Amino acid sequence: MILFVNACVRKDSRTERIAKALIETLGDKCEEVKLSELGLNPVLEGALEKRTKLAGKGLFSDPMFEPAKQFSRADTIVIAAPFWDLSFPAILKTYLENIYVIGLVSEYNSEGQPHGLCKAGKLYYVTTAGGQYLPDFSYDYIRLMAEKCFGINETELIKAEMLDVEGFDAEKLVKQKIEKIKNNSKAEAENE
Ligand SMILES: Cc1cc2nc3c(=O)[nH]c(=O)nc-3n(C[C@H](O)[C@H](O)[C@H](O)COP(=O)(O)O)c2cc1C
Repeated sequence: MILFVNACVRKDSRTERIAKALIETLGDKCEEVKLSELGLNPVLEGALEKRTKLAGKGLFSDPMFEPAKQFSRADTIVIAAPFWDLSFPAILKTYLENIYVIGLVSEYNSEGQPHGLCKAGKLYYVTTAGGQYLPDFSYDYIRLMAEKCFGINETELIKAEMLDVEGFDAEKLVKQKIEKIKNNSKAEAENE
């Protein structure tokens, strides 16, 4: 199962279009989590206390654990998030806070090192930027989380940039990126 973590906000999101083209080529059953409609809250004291208490006892039947379970059992993860303020929309950080449940997505050894429990073999991070894309506080962070905390060792960045800069044809750049994804997938299928 592909888990599509959709952190796109705008109705005509270009990031979402590219991510959907990618998912089509991956050709597996897809579960979409549209973060702007999910109504997740940042993890505050009450929820944190409840979560720590239940997770400490290995009790994961409460609905609060559903997003973490879904993330943990996915075979492939596709995160789509526009480049906002050198990072990504806050709803994605809120989602990560909510799914980061010890005992479901990660566990820690006696030296305090995390060990990932997620099943996914690969995580794709799809983004678009108005200007030049800088990965430091978005893709690089997600890649580290995937490798060090979730146990997902393969990650790939798919990006289109300069979409809001005068003189650049945003529609053409998005279409080119979608074509490239489709061609890569065709070439891979032919090489199999
Ligand atoms: C709140 C907000 C913050 C943004 N911050 C940046 C930024 O730091 N750097 C940049 O290059 N573009 C920035 N942009 C432009 C978006 O990255 C760009 O328009 C992107 O393609 C939007 O993706 P979408 O079409 O999927 O909504 C920002 C846009 C918004 C609405």
